[in-house]
Amino acid sequence: MDKLRIAGGRFLKGRVAVAGAKNAALPALAATLLTDDAVELTNLPRVRDVRTMLRVLEQLGATVNETGAGAATVRVGRLQSFEAPYDLVKTMRASVLVLGPLVARHGRARVSLPGGCAIGERPINLHIDGLQKMGADITIEHGYVEAKAKRLRGASITFPFKTVTGTENLMMAATLAEGTTRLGHCACEPEIVDLAELLVSMGAVIHGAGTEDIVIEGGQPLRGARHRVIPDRIEAGTYLCAGALIGDGIEVVGARADHLEAALTQLAACGVVIERTGEVLRVLRPERLVARDLRTSPHPGFPTDMQAQYMALMTQASGTALIAETIFERRFMHVGELQRMGANIRIDGRSAAVTGPTRLTGAQVMATDLRASACLVLAGLAADGVTVVDRAYHLDRGYESMETKLGALGASIERIR
Ligand code: EPZ
Repeated sequence: MDKLRIAGGRFLKGRVAVAGAKNAALPALAATLLTDDAVELTNLPRVRDVRTMLRVLEQLGATVNETGAGAATVRVGRLQSFEAPYDLVKTMRASVLVLGPLVARHGRARVSLPGGCAIGERPINLHIDGLQKMGADITIEHGYVEAKAKRLRGASITFPFKTVTGTENLMMAATLAEGTTRLGHCACEPEIVDLAELLVSMGAVIHGAGTEDIVIEGGQPLRGARHRVIPDRIEAGTYLCAGALIGDGIEVVGARADHLEAALTQLAACGVVIERTGEVLRVLRPERLVARDLRTSPHPGFPTDMQAQYMALMTQASGTALIAETIFERRFMHVGELQRMGANIRIDGRSAAVTGPTRLTGAQVMATDLRASACLVLAGLAADGVTVVDRAYHLDRGYESMETKLGALGASIERIR
């Protein structure tokens, strides 16, 4: 199993380009199931989760043509299967995004239940409830969700709390449903807006994506389209934290600052200066980083996907930062590993008190999930000595060649077996 070996203490210099957003690419790929025309997607990040989604589509019967770096044309003519198998879904729970499009277009779907995850239980009951309200007949047996519907029909659905992929799944299904669907208390993430833009370019009628109330006028068959996926705000945020931690004026290129406001505001409150020039964010590491409390929340709040990276930063800040994780019930798996490196962190339920600055020392650590692995890489960059991050496959799921990008910024980082 691959590991990353990091010799810490080297200041990062130069520019790093942000790839396309994993969490926009995955629903965009699932949306190709809604038409039998070809859909061309560009700026797809070269990460393992995108590969997995392409495999799910191929095994359903899609023809996938990879037309160069980060571009793929997908055409789903006749389906050869309705099933998203356990072997694929267990490696990437976002495979559940094929459920809505499959039942909406093909009247049937059989998708493995994703099961538990390192960061929380993560049930998909809201996806299922919504499809049932649209008239799908759903059974759960042998670890699979089986959905059937001659034709979905529009419905009014209000989410009890915000769900990103839940909003995406029902928005996609509603585009082919008979009549109008009103979704209330929706998630407002930029990835949902990007998906709606793709669907509209395929001929769908959608109002309000990016707000809590989305209206979809369904019923029209959808056509092919060409769509460029938005940049990855979480990857950008990760490099902003790296720059604030151990950078010497690095520039993060290609990010959408308007997708990162909460993170930029939080970093500024810690004393980090970020200069914005067009698509370039230049990070100036302060002499003294100030500890600031944090509360994760749905967009436009501070993203839970940046909580771990922010925690690594707070280990080097003066004072105590109280970090409250409100989205997932088990998203502190990185704490034990940071403590092994010398961090002073006390967990109390879904909050963690990080007191700093403490000297981090290199150690062998274990990644448990995608963002925890990014956190450990950041800590390794700032630590004295050598850190070895085991299970680097977690990182590969969502970061495009992180060690190459960090190496280009002057970090001493290599992949070892
Ligand atoms: C998306 O996951 C992202 N994944 C996650 O990014 C991200 O952490 C999360 O949104 C929150 O921002 C993708 O977009 C592919 P949710 P999702 O449904 O949609 C509960 C990363 O690191 N819930 O918004 O699965 C759920 O358990 C990943 O890139 C239900 O109870 O998250 C959680 O506590 C990790 N029932 C909360 O809602 C449901 O049916 C929010 O989850 C659905 C969700």
